[in-house]
Amino acid sequence: MKAAPASRREQIRWMLADLKMPGALEAVDGILSKADSGTLTAAEAIQDLLGAQIGLRNNRRLQAAMRSSRLPAVKTLEEFDFSFQPSIKREQIDSLAELSFLERKENVVLLGPPGVGKTHLAIGLAIAAAQSGRRVYYGTLSDLVSSLEEARAAGSLKRRLSVLAAPSLMVVDEIGYLPVSQTGAMLFFQLMSRRYERASTVMTSNKGFEEWGEVLGDEVMAAALIDRILHHCHIVNIRGNSYRMRQHTEVWRMLRQDADESTPRTRRKVREGNR
Ligand SMILES: Nc1ncnc2c1ncn2[C@@H]1O[C@H](COP(=O)(O)OP(=O)(O)O)[C@@H](O)[C@H]1O
Ligand SMILES: [Mg+2]
Repeated sequence: MKAAPASRREQIRWMLADLKMPGALEAVDGILSKADSGTLTAAEAIQDLLGAQIGLRNNRRLQAAMRSSRLPAVKTLEEFDFSFQPSIKREQIDSLAELSFLERKENVVLLGPPGVGKTHLAIGLAIAAAQSGRRVYYGTLSDLVSSLEEARAAGSLKRRLSVLAAPSLMVVDEIGYLPVSQTGAMLFFQLMSRRYERASTVMTSNKGFEEWGEVLGDEVMAAALIDRILHHCHIVNIRGNSYRMRQHTEVWRMLRQDADESTPRTRRKVREGNR
């Protein structure tokens, strides 16, 4: 007996499998059902189907990037609470998130005291770049300097510099917390010279530029470095309170409140709350 012709739905499934689109394949039945019942227009259905595939691809890219980039955590720009940090111009971050600064090989410097979200925003931009398929790399200044010093001792500095010069986006976190040796600073300068006008670097610092000479142990080199960084640069100056301290302050206030309230009232509140 001749096999019944495959339904259109099955044909679509075969085509998606043939095109190696597992994200779309998984979503297609649900989307077609919604389209059949009139919940989705044809255009919406196509958009959802392609969106499902792009979502899966971005997720895979991100996972691969997370493995190779050494990003210390997943912190996205969507998770950032801009209302807590009014000194940040949201439009500036939104525009950076469009990533055209990477095409123009421009840098970003996030400045501000501890806990205001510099690392979070730097990682958020790196994740956005990774999701768009670009290579990213994360390191603190100390990490990067150690890595360069090790390579130099092993006679492989040139190779390490090439490797670190390659990613479209490099985060150099925590410039200013730990002083670096003069050799370390010179190696960092070499790296930044290699990346200058070739790829973007996102830096964070708790110190203003005028203090970088002290951090790098060499005023003249710091000036030359800052000159290159600032040539094509977006500066995000964050003046505000620590997000970490906010959480501490809330816990502290709750503890104080509990201690201040008389015990019977607290018990009553708890009982009422449990009802
Ligand atoms: N505005 C914000 N919205 C949400 N989370 C924030 C915000 N600012 C900081 N955080 C969180 O607070 C912690 C400290 O922020 P972080 O970026 O490490 O600060 P910094 O690098 O400036 O010292 C992190 O867990 C970060 O995700
Ligand atoms: Mg930080």
